[in-house]
Amino acid sequence: MENFTFYSPTEFIFGKDTENECGKYVKKHGGSKVLIHYGSGSAVKSGLLDRVTASLDAENIPYVMLGGVKPNPRDTLIYEGIELCRKENVDFILSVGGGSCIDSAKGIAAGVPYDGDFWDFYEKKAVIQKALPVGTVLTIAAAGSEGSGGSVVTKEDGMLKRDAGSDLLRPRFSILNPALTQTLPAYQTACGATDIMAHVFERYFTNTKEVEITDRLCEAVLLTMIKETPRVIKNPDNYDARANIMWAGTVAHNDIVGVGRSQDWNSHGIEHELSGLYDCAHGAGLAVVMPAWMEHVYTHDIMRFAQMAVRVWGCEMNFQNPEATALEGISRFRKFLHEIGMPINFEELGAKTEDIPTLIDKFGIGDGETWGFVRLKASDIEQILLNAVNAKV
Ligand code: NZQ
Ligand code: ZN
Repeated sequence: MENFTFYSPTEFIFGKDTENECGKYVKKHGGSKVLIHYGSGSAVKSGLLDRVTASLDAENIPYVMLGGVKPNPRDTLIYEGIELCRKENVDFILSVGGGSCIDSAKGIAAGVPYDGDFWDFYEKKAVIQKALPVGTVLTIAAAGSEGSGGSVVTKEDGMLKRDAGSDLLRPRFSILNPALTQTLPAYQTACGATDIMAHVFERYFTNTKEVEITDRLCEAVLLTMIKETPRVIKNPDNYDARANIMWAGTVAHNDIVGVGRSQDWNSHGIEHELSGLYDCAHGAGLAVVMPAWMEHVYTHDIMRFAQMAVRVWGCEMNFQNPEATALEGISRFRKFLHEIGMPINFEELGAKTEDIPTLIDKFGIGDGETWGFVRLKASDIEQILLNAVNAKV
């Protein structure tokens, strides 16, 4: 195992009706004027926003509101949020929604105290030195942004999707009420589940040896997702299954399952170009990319893929032919994604083969190579995308 530090300062408040306590937690974490940041309507429709404002009113905390965050959140709304926070002397941002909403809130949080253009952080031209505190009321189990220091934003001009990260962006508190996720359409639930599993796989495929504890934690999260996802798709009101998925989503990405080991993240890098270009859901893009990536790289460590096949997908180990076991595991992963309603190839995602050169170009790899479990060159990315074009179950 490699040396590591683990920093996860977020206070998590989990369970039924917990959103009614958000005023109390804003106060506890020092907020005296709040920006409530929310999405395109689900939090209004469900009455959640009213409960959040009532909770702030009960603590006499003034607030301003900015809604309209779209999935794959845009830079344009972040500029608006920065202006509003400065004008209104906001000192705390409360995100009410999913990963897009949280990431937009984080962009605003980093931008308010910064003299330059907040996009500098996403282009890696500047490092975040200061940020307003962020709290979240989560409405979808997916991105893990409620416990992460990351933020992913799309620049409207050119639809460039880029990420920024800092421990300063880790939420001060996150309110996780699984019942809030019961209004999610099945497709969004499945997209979220795919993202959660992908966050684990990005960590599971490692070149670090002797990492039994994190291997086993990863497998526990994956087995939970395999059991619970079909249950919530069948019965969206299954609170207990929703609860297991919600906590799985947080632990999949606050890095507790990934410490002390090298990680990959190339499937995420490739997917961000798909959701940047086509504005598709991140989880749907991952369902297309990740098994295709696995097919491209599995020979790098056949035994690790065979381990996944046996421990996660219940395959029988073929000791004469471990490669067959490894491939069976990948095939079961794709079949699972298909069964929960995810696209598994370009056509189902709405992607076009002729866009592959554009996707590679936007990835910006040039003649170089990526980091990760297997370092990828442009030709590898092309092959992964070609694997994805005609994938079948
Ligand atoms: O905007 P509203 O009306 O709320 O609708 C949303 C949106 O259409 C809807 N929704 C959310 N909660 C709902 C609901 N509908 C009904 N009932 C509810 N309870 O779901 C749709 C998707 O929401 P979004 O916030 O986009 O989903 P998600 O949490 O999957 O976030 C995706 C974004 O997170 C980024 C992705 O790239 C993508 O942009 N990621 C962020 C990460 C991070 N910050 O650490 C890591 C991830 O790997 C990921 O890249
Ligand atoms: Zn993700």
